[in-house]
Amino acid sequence: MTTIDTTAVPTRSQRLKAATSSTHDSLDKRIMSEDIFASRDRFARFVRVQYRFHRDIQALYAAPVLGALLPDLAERQRLAQIAKDLGDLQQSLPADAAPAVAADVELARALGWLYVAEGSNLGGTILFKMAAKLGLGAGFGASHLAAHPDGAARHWRQFTAALDTVPLTDAQEAQAIEGANAAFRTVRGYVEEEFA
Ligand code: HEM
Repeated sequence: MTTIDTTAVPTRSQRLKAATSSTHDSLDKRIMSEDIFASRDRFARFVRVQYRFHRDIQALYAAPVLGALLPDLAERQRLAQIAKDLGDLQQSLPADAAPAVAADVELARALGWLYVAEGSNLGGTILFKMAAKLGLGAGFGASHLAAHPDGAARHWRQFTAALDTVPLTDAQEAQAIEGANAAFRTVRGYVEEEFA
């Protein structure tokens, strides 16, 4: 007799989500508690956080070894749009700093960092709508939060479909989770600094 195992095995992206959901919730609440839509100046502080995070992972988006695993990776990079948004908001770019993650970090850790950056586009669509009340949008001040033309959810599913099929050992799975946690910790640190 054949038995069918109905226990769904979570995908890698689902595991990453589960491992970081409380960190995400607390970051989300922390950012919203800063009233980032009270003024363009407050919103700009959030964009500075985004700039510093995306600068940290700029080299990962350009890494051929990662691009071979994650289609369209290089085009997903948003640092240039974030820099433009800061310019629109009449902000100078944050001071130069060494990236929080090395360009030659282990592949699995890099996947964890990219999971966080790409996933943040989902919440970004909510922030994008809220930015409209400051007169900001795709053409001015909030371009980096605009959904991809394919739709944010679809663009995300394309990413997770690729992420979920990268073969990793158990040790690498743990590294991916560590990478995602390190990314969230780093962003949290930037929030604390920019809103101090
Ligand atoms: C106030 C700011 C934020 C809000 C309101 C927010 C909200 C959301 C929402 C509604 C989702 C979709 C959840 C779902 O579909 O189940 C999401 C997903 C996500 N967000 Fe945020 N978010 C915020 C900031 C951030 C930041 C700063 C990061 C990281 C830099 C981040 C990382 C993620 C990730 C990785 C996901 C994907 C979760 C998954 O489905 O695997 N979010 N966010």
